[in-house]
Amino acid sequence: MSRLRALGAAVMWLWNHFAISAVAAPVSRVLTYYSGEAQKLADPTYGPIPGLSDHYSSYWGIERPFPGNISDPVFPTEEGPPAEDDATWQNLLSAEWIIFEFYQQGVERFTDEDFVKAGFPTYTRRRLMEIRNNEAGHLRIFQNQISPTSIKPGACKYKFPLDSPRGYLGFMTVMEISSMAFLTGLVQEAKIPWNQGAMAAISQTEARHEVWALMDIWKVDPFAGPADTVFPYANQILYSTHALVVPGTCPHENPEYPHPRQLLPDLWASHDANSVEPGARITLSFPEPDNQPVFDDDTQYYAVFFHSVLNVSVPIDTEGFPERPINVTIPASLERKGVFVALVADEPGAPTKESVVAGPAVVLEQPAELGLALVKGGPN
Ligand SMILES: *[C@@H]1O[C@H](CO)[C@@H](O)[C@H](O)[C@H]1NC(C)=O
Ligand SMILES: *[C@@H]1O[C@H](CO)[C@@H](O)[C@H](O)[C@H]1NC(C)=O
Ligand SMILES: *[C@@H]1O[C@H](CO)[C@@H](O)[C@H](O)[C@H]1NC(C)=O
Repeated sequence: MSRLRALGAAVMWLWNHFAISAVAAPVSRVLTYYSGEAQKLADPTYGPIPGLSDHYSSYWGIERPFPGNISDPVFPTEEGPPAEDDATWQNLLSAEWIIFEFYQQGVERFTDEDFVKAGFPTYTRRRLMEIRNNEAGHLRIFQNQISPTSIKPGACKYKFPLDSPRGYLGFMTVMEISSMAFLTGLVQEAKIPWNQGAMAAISQTEARHEVWALMDIWKVDPFAGPADTVFPYANQILYSTHALVVPGTCPHENPEYPHPRQLLPDLWASHDANSVEPGARITLSFPEPDNQPVFDDDTQYYAVFFHSVLNVSVPIDTEGFPERPINVTIPASLERKGVFVALVADEPGAPTKESVVAGPAVVLEQPAELGLALVKGGPN
């Protein structure tokens, strides 16, 4: 009897051991090169909770706020298939690391006086801290929305335009409006209505940040007309941020960012552009030597401008490219407000993501001078 019981206990031990190790193995393997601190984040009740804690608004330290101070990926704690919207939240979390780090590094790089000397309000840096805290809250919200069967991506190393307060704030303005525009697309990828609502709420927060910058920093009318710009191909905007990520610095367990991605050539306006407002003629520039668009001789290509809830297409002459540069006149019919999302497509209206061959570029119309500088490759 006792021998049988011992055998039973051994079987039970083996069974338990296997059942547990099937889940625990990926975690224990990573503990050899990660501290294990990040694994605590798998519990959504760990640390300050967004909506219950003022940490994500009123933390005034310079050091990274939680969970931005824990940059490792968080490994799955359960086995099983991913939840329906996990990939969408993973894309959002990877993008959020870029945005959070942008604010964090600005807070570290510039002093209150730097902003004042450049002509900006005395409380500029404090607002940037508050925005940074909101972005830390986004990190936590997105971590919590990814189910326990999927990895929560960690931070990479990034490079940002940190040379001058003015250039930094210019980049901030286009980053916030780009966040808003990509969220109008990302919300269309989410399958679960609650998640769609949560993403809409996040995009409202980015819009509030943008409105502050437009009114207080740039002293312009903050309104963008009756609707902000809807752009359906969110991952194309996410991919256009790849130049900010230092190659080879992402945790190698992170999922591809963004997923899926098309590796489309970047699209800018050439340096001789003197306006990106409706009616202006610009020459297109594809700044990455290793990623140039390829145009078929017998296909008609279009520059497509998304604005508000519509898009306007302009046929372009690609014959002789790249020796003969491509020019386009920005449709004079567009309202000079908010943002345009511009791209090159092989069909009018870019009706599928596969029809896009270069871009998109996010073209800020407000303030117009800033939009021009940014689309030429930098605000300085
Ligand atoms: C991260 O920040 C939180 C809150 O400020 C703090 O409690 C925690 O110890 C920090 N963790 C690390 C690893 O720095
Ligand atoms: C675009 O404009 C430039 C001059 O700004 C000209 O050299 C070039 O030929 C034009 N390209 C086309 C396709 O017309
Ligand atoms: C652009 O607008 C056309 C209608 O003018 C529409 O058929 C097309 O789907 C729109 N493109 C996108 C990507 O929404």
